[in-house]
Amino acid sequence: MFLGGTRALSAMTHAMAVQPNTLNASTLANFVDPLPIPPVARSSGTRPLPSSPKTNVPYYRFAAQPMETKIHRDLKPTHFWAFNGSVPGPTLEMRRGEEVLVEWANELPQQHFLPIDYRLHGAKGNPQVRMVTHLHGGIVPPESDGYPEDWYVPGKSLTYRYPIQQEPAMLWYHDHGMGINRLNIYAGLFGAAIIRDKVEDALNLPSGKYEIPLVIFDRLITPEGQLYYPISDKPGAPWIPELFGDAVLFNGKLFPYLEVEPRKYRFRVLNGSNARFYSLSFQNGLSFHQIGTDQGLLPAPLSIKNVQLAPAERADVVVDFSDSRGEQIVLKNDAVGVMQFRVSAAKVSDSSSLPAELRPVPKILESQAAKTRLLTLDEYVSFTGEPVLLLLNASYWHEPISEKPALNSTEIWSFINPTDDTHPIHLHAVRFQILDRQHYEPSIYLTKKEFRFLGPRMPPEPYEAGWKDTASAHSRMVTRIIVPFDSYPGRYVWHCHILEHEDNEMMRPYEIVAG
Ligand code: C2O
Ligand code: CU
Ligand code: CU
Repeated sequence: MFLGGTRALSAMTHAMAVQPNTLNASTLANFVDPLPIPPVARSSGTRPLPSSPKTNVPYYRFAAQPMETKIHRDLKPTHFWAFNGSVPGPTLEMRRGEEVLVEWANELPQQHFLPIDYRLHGAKGNPQVRMVTHLHGGIVPPESDGYPEDWYVPGKSLTYRYPIQQEPAMLWYHDHGMGINRLNIYAGLFGAAIIRDKVEDALNLPSGKYEIPLVIFDRLITPEGQLYYPISDKPGAPWIPELFGDAVLFNGKLFPYLEVEPRKYRFRVLNGSNARFYSLSFQNGLSFHQIGTDQGLLPAPLSIKNVQLAPAERADVVVDFSDSRGEQIVLKNDAVGVMQFRVSAAKVSDSSSLPAELRPVPKILESQAAKTRLLTLDEYVSFTGEPVLLLLNASYWHEPISEKPALNSTEIWSFINPTDDTHPIHLHAVRFQILDRQHYEPSIYLTKKEFRFLGPRMPPEPYEAGWKDTASAHSRMVTRIIVPFDSYPGRYVWHCHILEHEDNEMMRPYEIVAG
């Protein structure tokens, strides 16, 4: 294999991977299906904690099973693999300070229905169907984190414990099976999780039926209404560098509509896509009030016209429809209408609030960092310019662990991105803040390991200035995050959240080391 170094990569070259036997989603009728709301997970009683058998905590069982569901009025039911018969799976509601047990059961068939690439690490020589579930954004002990190599086969299950001490936020759970994660999530193995507490309750934000998760994911659909995951044109090497679908689903429906009252709503928006970035806006120019990021509330609401979401990122937004009585408002992704809000003409009263102050986000100072790590994001191409491999800091998954932050220490991680892609970088087990981004000259860094900066350090965008667990490392920039490693000692992972990259080596273990 020729590793030709970093490549010029554009959305255009990627689009070529899309093969012609898919439905053109734009030919389907728009806004004919109501937006489904994923069910809230119900606990099946309580169970004793393995560590302290006298304490009983709520116990949930999530079973991954094949299922069928209609994603659009005019399509036949689509085959998915999903948790408890729903895609996205049931929403796991948790309270800060309360521990829960979740059994993640693999009740899938023995054969996969999407194209496995057996060359990838974790897929080679292993059973086709394997799963392990990770609570993304959850700060949980390492043995409950869904380590990619902890996968298990149909008929098996693992029970994880989530001692929720972290601040309220929208998390999500998804498969993390080594070398197969992009296919399992594409198949439907994911769902939302929400942490709440008294402090947040007291803010009186829109709640109950006025608080709605919007889980967004794109797919390619065959004319028969089935999921389509393309393969490369290289024999024996089906992996593709990114999956982009033209069918954008909200909570599992294509072009849904939602009937709303002329009042405030809170939307918990999650980008659950393999590789697509979103820029959401209302056609009529209505604003969003962003109140939170991946890891919880911002200090104050931020009025924005666009919601920008990289894969795995979340935005907590309040939308006030009170001036839009009787209107039908289209929500667009870039220029394409993807969802519709139908505002009723009724007069309603709205006792919810949008407070001017939400929750303090103490800024972590650079001076608090004990260490700075320089970490490159690497793409390698073949003779023909096709991407074949992606690495973090030029290291493969199986190489010895090189990132070993001390428990309770703070570090700066600098992501040096010479590629032409944005890579959304995610760390398990922690929350962090983005310090800044700066343009630099990749060729000089590549040859001399020296930085020539091409502009000033730019602070994070206002909408990403809160607590994060996933940060976009933009092309030809150095992106710095500051991370307190104050969770649990043990082995976790960090990776690019473009799932095709993650599955092809753009993931590394790291270890939080007790002092
Ligand atoms: Cu969404 Cu390893 O995570
Ligand atoms: Cu995660
Ligand atoms: Cu990437």
